[in-house]
Amino acid sequence: MSENKVPLCRPEIGEKEIEEIKRVLDSGWLAHGPKVKEFEKKFAEYIGVKYAVSLNSCASALQAAIMAKNLKGEIILPSFTFPASANAIINAGCIPVFAEIRKDTMNIDISDVEKKITLRTVGIMPVHFAGQSCEMDKIMELAKKHNMTIIEDSAEAIGTTYTGKKTGAFGEGCFSFYPTKNITTAEGGMVTTNSKETAEMVQTIRGHGVSKGAYEREHAEKPWIRMATMPGYNFRMNEIQAVLGIEQLKILDELNEKRRKNAQYLNRGLSRYREITTPYEDKKGKHTYQMYVIQLDEKIDRDAFVIYLRNNGVEANVHFFPGVHQHPYYEKTFGKKSLPVTESISRIVATLPMFPSMTKKQMDIIIEKVGEALKTARWH
Ligand SMILES: Cc1ncc(COP(=O)(O)O)c(C=O)c1O
Repeated sequence: MSENKVPLCRPEIGEKEIEEIKRVLDSGWLAHGPKVKEFEKKFAEYIGVKYAVSLNSCASALQAAIMAKNLKGEIILPSFTFPASANAIINAGCIPVFAEIRKDTMNIDISDVEKKITLRTVGIMPVHFAGQSCEMDKIMELAKKHNMTIIEDSAEAIGTTYTGKKTGAFGEGCFSFYPTKNITTAEGGMVTTNSKETAEMVQTIRGHGVSKGAYEREHAEKPWIRMATMPGYNFRMNEIQAVLGIEQLKILDELNEKRRKNAQYLNRGLSRYREITTPYEDKKGKHTYQMYVIQLDEKIDRDAFVIYLRNNGVEANVHFFPGVHQHPYYEKTFGKKSLPVTESISRIVATLPMFPSMTKKQMDIIIEKVGEALKTARWH
């Protein structure tokens, strides 16, 4: 790709990943093998939890985690997220209740969560937006007070910390390894937990409902006996994805440091434009910039701004418009809801390119083109 064009993101796949994939293909053992187990063990160690269970996506991880905790009722989450967060709640048999976000972090607003707690509330799903942790200290306190389960949607935050602890280690953690994320397995997901029972339930759900625990206890000498204890799914990760994950995990901290450095460079360069608010960093945490999301002054036509950049070699995008509560299925099913902060933020956000190997030249192009876009995209 020419250095004059700046893609939104770029997975960082090296020779080592390619070598390991070839090794798996040559071995003939493509699924249900030792590499999946190794990736799970290393990921659990990295996050700082006892168990990690791999899956084929974060959507599956969220659904399996909710089902494994046997939640029945309402789960509060931000509307300012990807539909997968809310879809998983419904697919697991629960009801999504949308809360507002803070204007600065664009993460869930705890005071609005408190207002939305009812006798039917069983959980909160904080979504760590774009690489920044939610206020997990306050969320944990609230969950304890109201006896609620925390399902963390950490799809956009692999390696992010808050009060010195990794996201995904506060409640039940759910991660994505989609190519746009901090690390990738092409498609893939993970549940992290400190509960053995939850880990075993997620394994059962992802593997056709066949309970490994029961099988191991009762039929170890007869491996052909597979007992379904529920109508599960095939949510499994394969060996090719797992070796990608193992190699990517080795370089994750280094990749996140590069993201942070790039964010600082962009912050400095963009600070000359009064119409732009660069990403806010909560000082209690470490942002890992899975995305670099700016806010524009109301004088700027956001769509025209993004279109100008896309037509001029900078692949800008929008995360997220509209909020999930305004998606057709959600409006039809739950009625029209009013979330004024979410609605106004979703009209002024723009996502600029962000990936570890982005060059200074590419960042300078972004800064220059943003200046041009601001001039052409004023509301008249
Ligand atoms: C916040 C959030 N949750 C969930 C998902 C779904 O992840 P996956 O594509 O791995 O299912 C995404 C993916 O983009 C996301 O951004």
